[in-house]
Amino acid sequence: MTKTAVIENPNKTKDVRFLGPVDISSIKDDIINLSQEYWDTYDNIKPNKFGEFKKTTEHIVFRFVSDFHQAFPDILEYPVWSEWKHKLEPVIRSVVAQYGYKEDCIGKVMLAKLKAGAEIKKHKDSALENVYPHKIHIPITTNTETPFFVGDRKYHFEVGQAYEIDNIDIHGTINGGDTDRIHLLFTYYDRPMNEIKVADPEANAQELEQEILKSGIYYYDRELNETMTEQETAIAN
Ligand SMILES: [Fe+2]
Repeated sequence: MTKTAVIENPNKTKDVRFLGPVDISSIKDDIINLSQEYWDTYDNIKPNKFGEFKKTTEHIVFRFVSDFHQAFPDILEYPVWSEWKHKLEPVIRSVVAQYGYKEDCIGKVMLAKLKAGAEIKKHKDSALENVYPHKIHIPITTNTETPFFVGDRKYHFEVGQAYEIDNIDIHGTINGGDTDRIHLLFTYYDRPMNEIKVADPEANAQELEQEILKSGIYYYDRELNETMTEQETAIAN
């Protein structure tokens, strides 16, 4: 497999960038009141059904990437995005305006529910597509017992605030409370991207899963500035 040099985004945070208050009053109740049946429907067809996310976290994925191994993949829009776009996009736009990019693109967009008692073990989002874009979290509901770890620091992400995290550094979270935690997550690029509407998200998720099974996931190592397979990463460490 070819190791690919990666261009890092010089404006991406190297820890946590506080992006300030965000008005989520237009979406909060709609999200909190979603039925478990609705969550289950979309969690069952999510394209990120791998690793930690199989059991610990439920997702509703609105937008995703076409290829884990490209720095600037096509952005896939699932049908559920058209249902939510008019609600979510204004909130996302209100946060990203401060970056001041002349051209841009919202990348992956999803809701992530970390159930009470669940943990996302510390990991790096190091598949190549994660390296360049900003990764931003907007808490929709949380509790005081759900810390978020980035690098060697511990944070508490508050509802009504937005945070960019360094997702290619080690990060994780644990919900030690007795209520679920829900974040709106998205990636954000400082350039236009090719956007593709996907009619059949279930088939698309299966294609992406097959792609991972076939070629594995390349992991980016910031210190070496190159990508490698999971096996090579284990050897290097
Ligand atoms: Fe992550």
